[in-house]
Amino acid sequence: MQATEIFQITDNEAGLQLNADGSLRHLLTLKGLDKTMLIELLDESQKFISPFGAIPARSRTLEGRTVANLFFEPSTRTRASFDLAAKRLGADVLNLDVNTSSRKKGESILDMIYTLQAMHVDIMVVRDASANVPAYIARHVNDYVSILNAGEADVSHPTQGLLDLLTIRQHKGEFKGLTVTIVGDIMHSRVARSTAHGLNTLGVGELRLVSPAALAPDPNEMPFASLTHNLDEGIRGADVVMALRIQRERIESLEGIPGIEEYFANYGVSAKRLELAAADAIVMHPGPMNRGIEIESSLADSPASVITQQVTNGVAVRMAVLERVSKTMAVN
Ligand code: CP
Repeated sequence: MQATEIFQITDNEAGLQLNADGSLRHLLTLKGLDKTMLIELLDESQKFISPFGAIPARSRTLEGRTVANLFFEPSTRTRASFDLAAKRLGADVLNLDVNTSSRKKGESILDMIYTLQAMHVDIMVVRDASANVPAYIARHVNDYVSILNAGEADVSHPTQGLLDLLTIRQHKGEFKGLTVTIVGDIMHSRVARSTAHGLNTLGVGELRLVSPAALAPDPNEMPFASLTHNLDEGIRGADVVMALRIQRERIESLEGIPGIEEYFANYGVSAKRLELAAADAIVMHPGPMNRGIEIESSLADSPASVITQQVTNGVAVRMAVLERVSKTMAVN
């Protein structure tokens, strides 16, 4: 049985991730990263994009460094892309099997981290279902170790936010003047939070959040975004429409939405609904998708969809982030 640990942090999470000179030490959240830093990370990511069929972009920047992937929650995209990103930069990569790790036997997360640190792991990529875990670890590691948040409860998923920003920029260029609609379970979405904060920092024209009332965020949480429960209203004229995954069991608890068909009728992104958006609107989804629930299956595979491009960009963004923290890493 896993021991109960309290992951409290006393520092400001956003401040904790920067060195005194403003360079990136850890990546814990997009909150607190300024526009210059975000644009630099997007520019650096863009350099790692290669045409399909060509050998993917690679470098030896992380040669001699060790990256450990510590995923205590399921993942396909984030875990595989961090693994590929680190290998394409020449790092040694350790993918810890959570089912056979000693954390299952009750070892504390800090003892596990200190164990890996003692093996010269330089960068730890962490996904956990509990809030504060990446910052809590960052607070305790030696000053030559970097922590990258790969998905933290419903709080933050900064590399997902960056890959969403990169995908939008590739299609739309400037953020100013864009209308972006994010629809679904906003309340529980770390993706919505990170992407929304990034869009706000980059000066998006208008950000609309659409969700059933029971899945709406606190209206004070993202004061820069508008909030509606009506998707037709929220999607009208949008340049970018992002559908979020909803857990099937949450649908059953929604007032007035007794099942999947009703959820899709009210909050599903379909080709018919997309007719209300801008003629060249793009459709996004962070994955994994529930086809036919939050997004029409044929729309997910249509020319308007950039969902697989988001996945491609995920590797490039993670290469850029790994490279950046490795450059500011203190020498042991
Ligand atoms: N978008 C995302 O985080 O997907 P995974 O859970 O597969 O990593």
